[in-house]
Amino acid sequence: MELKIIKTENKKAKPTGKLGFGKYFTDHMFIMEYEGGEWKNARIQPYQDLHLAPSASVLHYAQGVFEGAKAYKNSKGEIRLFRLNDNLDRMCDSAERLCMPTFDKKFVYDAIKQLIFIDEDWIPTDEGTALYIRPTMIATEPALGVHASKTYYMYVIVSPVGAYYAHGLAPVKLLVEENYVRAAKGGTGGHKVIGNYAASMKAGENAQAKGYDQAMWLDAKHHRYVEEVGAMNIFFVIDGVAYTPALRGSILPGITRRSVITLLKSHNIKVREMNVDIRKVAEAAENGKLNEIFGTGTAAVISPVGWFGYHGKDYEVNKGEMGEISKMIYDELTGIQNGKYPDKFGWVDIIKK
Ligand SMILES: Cc1ncc(COP(=O)(O)O)c(C=O)c1O
Repeated sequence: MELKIIKTENKKAKPTGKLGFGKYFTDHMFIMEYEGGEWKNARIQPYQDLHLAPSASVLHYAQGVFEGAKAYKNSKGEIRLFRLNDNLDRMCDSAERLCMPTFDKKFVYDAIKQLIFIDEDWIPTDEGTALYIRPTMIATEPALGVHASKTYYMYVIVSPVGAYYAHGLAPVKLLVEENYVRAAKGGTGGHKVIGNYAASMKAGENAQAKGYDQAMWLDAKHHRYVEEVGAMNIFFVIDGVAYTPALRGSILPGITRRSVITLLKSHNIKVREMNVDIRKVAEAAENGKLNEIFGTGTAAVISPVGWFGYHGKDYEVNKGEMGEISKMIYDELTGIQNGKYPDKFGWVDIIKK
């Protein structure tokens, strides 16, 4: 398929001041359309509203999937893509889960590269910033019957971003959610599908109303085993061993999670992927054995957890400060992403040297 390029004649003003997360969008986007069993009309075009019928099935039945990846520009002027192939693999897995078509990953990868080159002057360069890449696929068939759509848009928008949490690297406060559940085995929790996020908002809002930053999810059956947090996977360092919930279908298989496991192991830190019982975590906090908790995600990077609330009680973690292991992993991961550290695991594609 050919990639058509239509450039804008009206470039927008760049943001000044704090970027925050996902508030600004660049001048262009990639889009292609699925119809008659194939993708067509692939193009990079000026960033614009979508043409969508009010009856489009994504708006009624949430047949939609998305991804989140990042490109970095360092002081040498290199543009560095982090594990984008893994995101496109996961997007195709998510699409299959929702009976949506997959796509030629190499074609989309190259189209994203082109998009980044065209909007290169939008890539921020300050410490902690990046160009966030949001591939999205939605069902567009104008039909109210509940069935897989026959037509789709696949598009990619990009956004210069800073820290995901307003307070940057400062430790966050999580509330363990004991009533609502995010996902059950056999559901869609292990895929990046849009409905998962709508279903999780209530718990997040409740947590925030009580003074916490986010909800920490427990499993749907026992309400006892930790799953994940908002847009992050989670790690607990207890007595020097790093524990993270095993992937059993209801947790998103995070690409940062996978990278962090590799980094921890490379430092000879033991990693256990298993059921993590929140009662045992609380117990460890009480006997001084809980060293650190941190979340991992493309948007949140490494996010230290300073406190968590469970069963009416607040627990402090590492005196409410970022722990040694979290800091080491943060430095190493961001160092690999921006080129300060060697890319010894082959995670980075330098698309412009
Ligand atoms: C629900 C959820 N869990 C975990 C993550 C972390 O995944 P990744 O490291 O691939 O960004 C995300 C973010 O993508 C997410 O939305």
